[in-house]
Amino acid sequence: MNSKIIKQRDYKVVNYVLQAVKLEFTLNDTNTIVINTMKFNNIIGDICLDGIGTKLISIYLNKIKLTPKEYKKNKTQIIIPSPPKNCTIKIKTSINPSLNSRLEGLYISDKIFVTQCEAQGFRRITFFPDRPDVLSIYTVKITGNKKLFPVMLSNGNLISKKIVKNDLEVIWNDPFPKPSYLFALVAGKLSKNNRKFLTKSNKQVDLNIWIRREDKNKIKFAMDSLEKAMKWDEKKYNLEYDLNIFNIAAINNFNMGAMENKSLNIFNSKYLISDKKTSTDNEYDFIETIVAHEYFHNWTGNRITCRDWFQLSLKEGLTVYRDQEFSSDMGSRAVKRIRDVRLLRTVQFAEDAGPLAHSVRPKSYAEINNFYTSTVYNKGAELIRMLENILSEKGFLRGFKYYIKKYDGIAATCENFISSMEKANNVDLKQFYLWYSQAGTPEVTVKPFFNKKAETLEIEIKQSIPNTPKQKYKKPMLIPLKLSLLGSDGKFLNLNENKSQKELLLIIKRKSQKFLFKNITSDPAISINRGFTSPVKINLKQNEKKLNLLMMYDDNPFKRWDALNKYFLSLCLKQSKKIQKDIKISKFFIEIIKNVLANSHKDPAFAAELLSIPSENEIAEHAKVYNPENIYNARISILNNISSALNHQFVLILNKCAVKNSSSRGWRSLHNICLEYLTSQKDKNSEKLAYKAYNSSNNMTIKLFSLSCINNIQGKYKNNLISEFYQKYKDQPTMIEKWLQIQASAKIKNNLNAVKKLIRLPVFDYKNANKVRVVLTTFAKNNSINFHNASGNGYKFIADQIIHLDTINPSSASGLASAFSSWKNLDKSRRKIIRENLIRIREKKDLSTNTFEIIDNIIKS
Ligand code: BES
Ligand code: ZN
Repeated sequence: MNSKIIKQRDYKVVNYVLQAVKLEFTLNDTNTIVINTMKFNNIIGDICLDGIGTKLISIYLNKIKLTPKEYKKNKTQIIIPSPPKNCTIKIKTSINPSLNSRLEGLYISDKIFVTQCEAQGFRRITFFPDRPDVLSIYTVKITGNKKLFPVMLSNGNLISKKIVKNDLEVIWNDPFPKPSYLFALVAGKLSKNNRKFLTKSNKQVDLNIWIRREDKNKIKFAMDSLEKAMKWDEKKYNLEYDLNIFNIAAINNFNMGAMENKSLNIFNSKYLISDKKTSTDNEYDFIETIVAHEYFHNWTGNRITCRDWFQLSLKEGLTVYRDQEFSSDMGSRAVKRIRDVRLLRTVQFAEDAGPLAHSVRPKSYAEINNFYTSTVYNKGAELIRMLENILSEKGFLRGFKYYIKKYDGIAATCENFISSMEKANNVDLKQFYLWYSQAGTPEVTVKPFFNKKAETLEIEIKQSIPNTPKQKYKKPMLIPLKLSLLGSDGKFLNLNENKSQKELLLIIKRKSQKFLFKNITSDPAISINRGFTSPVKINLKQNEKKLNLLMMYDDNPFKRWDALNKYFLSLCLKQSKKIQKDIKISKFFIEIIKNVLANSHKDPAFAAELLSIPSENEIAEHAKVYNPENIYNARISILNNISSALNHQFVLILNKCAVKNSSSRGWRSLHNICLEYLTSQKDKNSEKLAYKAYNSSNNMTIKLFSLSCINNIQGKYKNNLISEFYQKYKDQPTMIEKWLQIQASAKIKNNLNAVKKLIRLPVFDYKNANKVRVVLTTFAKNNSINFHNASGNGYKFIADQIIHLDTINPSSASGLASAFSSWKNLDKSRRKIIRENLIRIREKKDLSTNTFEIIDNIIKS
């Protein structure tokens, strides 16, 4: 493997201006012709164009055909030596979309021709400066059989549309300069759903969602979400949409969730279509979020794009922050924050602690597709949130507006964003940059010293950042931490002598710092990192009395949840070390849970979060020794313990939820969490209870959850329900995905055999990234007792799958390969088997750069 490593410090600007591009497509399954005419100005030196896997037919320089001697060509590039300062280069290529199973470049999804160009797919269509800092104006002509392609879309405005014999011929023009990764083309049979939107300055925009005809009635929720997102961006950030047309097309075969191509967003159908009868609340949430996310990219991503791919978090971190804020405003802010932090702690903290750790702005990569990670996205979003906390909402908004104004139309860097914040607020954020360059989750140790006599509380705060691959010596970071002190009467102490102030923002800058609080008459409970102001781990030991106070009275909903979550976690960790006997759960904690249940009617959605016990992956992230079975059993036994102690209460609430479940999603969440407790015994009664919930509910949120409970029990209902579900929904791909996922995640012995059967079913398809994800990735990342089975069969199976998948879709394969990154704390024998399998994968001939980079990094760790 001789993959080239791309380094951040090697960035060089290009030596020309690409004034305009004309692309002409003649569509054909196996032989699509692309004529690409590029108008260059101010060239100094050679022109270097990227291109992979296309058939070069001809190159013209200013209308004169070049002979092969007049340019240099290798597997990935063409170089045209010293062309005239201003010139036109016209390149004709042929591509075969029917053979494109990578789902990058131009490919076919259920007879629909579609492109995916981020990050480097455009070079699979034609030879081009395929880098985000080359912006140009695109005109696109598409020609193809009018029956096969009644709809032909590209970016910008439709300029002309005509029929020439059997062909349809359309021309699109995008007036905004853009990099190649934002180019898009969609052609095929699609139904249109239209709605008019009036912007705040009274411009009318045509919103169109293009979808397969059978899904035509399933886009109302997505359309509503789009409208809400557009209004929100106008109101919150004063950002208005900039064209008269906004298209979204839905496709069944798509590597990611969705893509923000200028005025032509392309979506994985799974994340766009919804239906009252078959969609779950979580699915609705994600549709709202992702529609907004891609729309928000129009400003943070498209109008201001990235200079190079190292700046990816500039658009992704910022846009995730924006979609999080949007969703918080649309629903429950508390629940949204808890779920976002939970995801960060489970996935990103694990990434930061493992062999694939990298900083939010990585220093080098072999394959950029491997860096669309939780670190770049979710930790990146936390960095933006930290800035908001440091600068206040107002100051942040000032900086944001400054950034938009100054960098509109520019391919920018993370520095450009931070410096906008600095300039608009007249502050120095130099130390803050470390968050972009240092990997690893900072650990913050908090030590309080209460002095009764002096009536003072001194808090000592120390920070340290763990070593990560290739990064050892780290500097102290700028860590904002919101803090409150809670008195033994459950009231917050005043922290300011001059005015009433119950919350302070501490800014930690040094390795060790002390803070002194005066007039503290009794030893208070400490509520720190309120709202999760910084993405760090807090070490702070407090006695049960104080924990009790925080669990009962902390008025920061995230922090109250966090107090319970920490305790749950400590219980699970303790139990996982002591498998024979059940550990005793403190009375006070049972009382807390009882109290949460008793008050659950006030905010059932929040109560459901408070009750939800850490996932196996979350526990694993904290365990020093990773024994998957012990963790699984520990979790079950804690659930069991609590539900036995409070059986009466859980049953009561479950029944109440069953009555109220159609009134709001909160009741459905609470229903499911109660059901999880009450079925943890996994006996006949558990099965009956879940079966009853399945049959008596009228919504997919409860149906699917109860089905998964039944499926986790080796009982009598399972097989019938699974085949019934299949019969009912076999024509709906998104339902079949749910059906597959439930089976792949079943936490029962020897589930590997079931998974092996699933991949042989006709509904499974290696070429469909969704199917791969719901079966294989689910098994490897969400079924630890089976994937990590001591026999090593789970490892061998997934390794075989990676090897096979790598030849079909490298991006799917490398996504699956990252499942092996959790091997560090496993026992010797498991590690040995994993190692053998990793080496076997690495030795495969022609392994993709994607998979190689992931596997090689894991082996070397
Ligand atoms: N730009 C990405 C999509 C993308 C990522 C394309 C990597 C090609 C390679 C898009 O804006 C995105 O981030 N989508 C997310 C969903 C979002 C809600 C975080 C996705 O697809 O998962
Ligand atoms: Zn994005």
